[in-house]
Amino acid sequence: MDSIRKQPLRLALLGCGSVGSQVVRLLRQQADDLTARVGAPIELVGVAVRRPELQRDADVPRALLTTDAHGLAARDDVDLVVEVIGGIEPARSLILTALEHGASVVTANKALLAEDGATLFAAAEKAQRDLYFEASVAGAIPILRPLQESLAGDQVRRVIGIVNGTTNFILDKMDSLGSGFAEVLEEAQELGFAEADPTADVEGYDAAAKAAILASLAFHTRVTSADVYREGISEVSASDIASAKAMNSVVKLLAICELREGAHGPAVSARVHPAMIPRSHPLASVREAFNAVFVESDAAGQLMFYGPGAGGSPTASAVLGDLVTVARNRLNDVRGVGESAYAQCEVLPMGETLTRYHVAMDVDDRAGVLAAVALAFAEHDVSIQTVRQEGHGDDASLVVVSHEATDAALSATVAALRTMDFVHDVTSVMRVEGDAE
Ligand SMILES: NC(=O)c1ccc[n+]([C@@H]2O[C@H](COP(=O)([O-])OP(=O)(O)OC[C@H]3O[C@@H](n4cnc5c(N)ncnc54)[C@H](OP(=O)(O)O)[C@@H]3O)[C@@H](O)[C@H]2O)c1
Repeated sequence: MDSIRKQPLRLALLGCGSVGSQVVRLLRQQADDLTARVGAPIELVGVAVRRPELQRDADVPRALLTTDAHGLAARDDVDLVVEVIGGIEPARSLILTALEHGASVVTANKALLAEDGATLFAAAEKAQRDLYFEASVAGAIPILRPLQESLAGDQVRRVIGIVNGTTNFILDKMDSLGSGFAEVLEEAQELGFAEADPTADVEGYDAAAKAAILASLAFHTRVTSADVYREGISEVSASDIASAKAMNSVVKLLAICELREGAHGPAVSARVHPAMIPRSHPLASVREAFNAVFVESDAAGQLMFYGPGAGGSPTASAVLGDLVTVARNRLNDVRGVGESAYAQCEVLPMGETLTRYHVAMDVDDRAGVLAAVALAFAEHDVSIQTVRQEGHGDDASLVVVSHEATDAALSATVAALRTMDFVHDVTSVMRVEGDAE
């Protein structure tokens, strides 16, 4: 321990809720090991909160608590700032203030990074300080630094993630119980897996922010949450789940980021929507509220990162990992990895994105129907991979799975099918990912 600097690195914590209180607990519990790993002690000098009177999970000394987050972020004697308040403001101003005053910053704030990461990266560059954010995507799972550092010598082509635990929990329960969305949502809320207002999770906003961050890092370009096509799971019906089962597939809310050839060079697409994936796909085995990110790259091939994607303690693990790195960098007077956005790829609109559709419909049980359905696909330049016909008479149904086509062509095909008089009802339309079994 001779090499340990006696003078501590001074840390300000902005926010002390689910994640922040676990950061305090781990800092305390592992103080000696952290000191040895960093090369100097980390001293907590202030904790900004909204309601100082509140009982905290961690035992935070009352003297450290302040409601003046700006004053704390602006202290010139602070070396490291952890932002775990969340949201856009005041988090953005606080991070910018901290960087301007010479602190290195660790944040878990996916919403802010996905909306306005460019401003934060520019400020970190100007201040020559670190900005680390591993905890912002998939909680405890190390995925951002593998993309930024371990895979920096490879070409990532595709990232597919289950990056929202709430929606995975709901879809998993719908699959195992055969229950409808509303019923399972209620159960998830009772068990604490879904918020009282579940919109951000259920409608895919949370996953879209993470998709923007993943796409930016994987393809060395800038993708914001506004660039990400988004559909949530509130429209997923028991009939969609049954259709998936019949194909030996499961329905998952996927964040899909791809590198494609665009009209003017490499282009990226980023989207979040429910999709059927075969049960044999590694992502199909991700159950309950777990997260996983599946990466495909030229040299490494297929990689899967799996683990708890949320929760105070798992998320604090990722925050602490970043904190140790930025603290070491401070001691060695170096900067870690900054923004890499040189590729400046065009972001493709959803209509131009290539995907596959599964379409189930109730149809008239008479000659010529199958041919007319096939013609509707052909007229939109969509070729069919499989057709399954089930039942007879009033129960006759057709299930078509397409080959890859643009999303615009596929949705136009479905719109055309809906107008045909022999199609009584289109009972399930869902995108399909992964090779069929
Ligand atoms: N929770 C997770 O599982 C998880 C997972 C991954 C990433 N994240 C990210 O981590 C961040 C924090 O999430 P969380 O779940 O810990 O949130 P949280 O439980 O709501 O905690 C937020 C904290 O910020 C404080 N705060 C709010 N507004 C403030 C203000 N204006 N000035 C000073 N303090 C303020 C709150 O103070 P009071 O306690 O006094 O109200 C609270 O301590 C978010 O960016 C979130 O997206 C969370």
